[in-house]
Amino acid sequence: MGIDDVTEPAVDAQLPTRNKQQRQQLTKGMEHMRSYVIIPETPQSAGEDAYGVPATYEPVRKPATTIVSDENPQKRSDPFQFGTRYLEEGDDIFAHNAWDHVEVDAQYSEFIEQQTTFQRENQVSDFDKQRFNDKPEKWWDKFYGNNQANFFKDRKWLVQEFPILGEVTKEDYGAVTLLEVGAGAGNTAFPLLAMNRNPELRLHACDYSAKAIDVIRSQPAYTAQESPAVLQADVWDIAGQDLPPGLTPSSVDLVLLIFIFSALSPDQWTQALRNIFTLLKSGGEVLFRDYGRGDLAQVRFKKGRYLDENFYVRGDGTRVYFFDEEELRRIWSSSIDGVTADSRQTASFEVRDLAVDRRMLVNRQRKLKMYRCWMQGRFMKPLRSET
Ligand SMILES: C[S@@+](CC[C@H](N)C(=O)[O-])C[C@H]1O[C@@H](n2cnc3c(N)ncnc32)[C@H](O)[C@@H]1O
Repeated sequence: MGIDDVTEPAVDAQLPTRNKQQRQQLTKGMEHMRSYVIIPETPQSAGEDAYGVPATYEPVRKPATTIVSDENPQKRSDPFQFGTRYLEEGDDIFAHNAWDHVEVDAQYSEFIEQQTTFQRENQVSDFDKQRFNDKPEKWWDKFYGNNQANFFKDRKWLVQEFPILGEVTKEDYGAVTLLEVGAGAGNTAFPLLAMNRNPELRLHACDYSAKAIDVIRSQPAYTAQESPAVLQADVWDIAGQDLPPGLTPSSVDLVLLIFIFSALSPDQWTQALRNIFTLLKSGGEVLFRDYGRGDLAQVRFKKGRYLDENFYVRGDGTRVYFFDEEELRRIWSSSIDGVTADSRQTASFEVRDLAVDRRMLVNRQRKLKMYRCWMQGRFMKPLRSET
């Protein structure tokens, strides 16, 4: 997935040490002419353009704090904690790999607008739209057939962003059922399996790409599981008419949707919500993380990638949507028809948390500034009302 999948800061690259420039010698009589005859040192370079985004664009900075205070505790300390390093006036952007809550400025917002207009004016042909929208799972099968080396990221952010995952994996938590949808090659499922100490945890990892499920099922961590197995991987389409193998209505405590909702076309959202609502127990939650509008992955799309508003096709044929906060709130709080699992004819999720995660990732060696934007939320199936 290339940069689309950069959900962790890029690996720290050491900057080569630069020799300090010698002050150039002038004869005593010429010293008063210094400013006329010496070309001043070039100011510190703004870096390279990052995937088409001009390097000269500057992020919005917060006012400088004089001490490494409680307000900005991670500024000069490592290891990096997500969500706690703010870029302030006077900071060297290239001193760290990532900065949190970095807002883009008006110039960048205008650039996003221009890019979107350009993309819309150069959209995918009708013939190709049909090619990419018809059987989208076959493009994911191809993806998982081609990219074996890129799998199994170390997702340190999982528990930090969703602390409940730390709780349910504790030894004495008790019986709990998790369903991960769009599990791909297991980038979330395997780290969870590795950290799990709870003998009563069951994790169902589903994906509609049979190839992805083959990848999960062929891993030693999967095949070596003792009976009863914690992790079960199955082919399942979240927007289909059936429930996943082994799961019944109101049987799931937590549903993980990590970069899968963006792979659906907008006309699949309602059925996906219906299935998730049916599967969850009352009080059960969806843990959601996905692409946000204006993310570099959206901005960098060139000609022939736009399928529909905020919906694109990547070079490998896989589709991706970019959400904004209000739209997600509307989707996840809308009422869902045809949900009969607990005798309610219509129902809707409760939006517990919904936030935009803006981060500037830095490639320190190439001096690239990458403005990333992700959406994160928790959506709850309401507790059954006693009436
Ligand atoms: C961007 S990948 C994310 C994979 C994984 N969650 C991760 O974060 O590494 C999106 C995944 O969603 C799967 N997917 C897309 N549409 C789906 C659907 N309708 N039902 C189930 N899985 C789907 C794709 O096959 C792909 O594995």
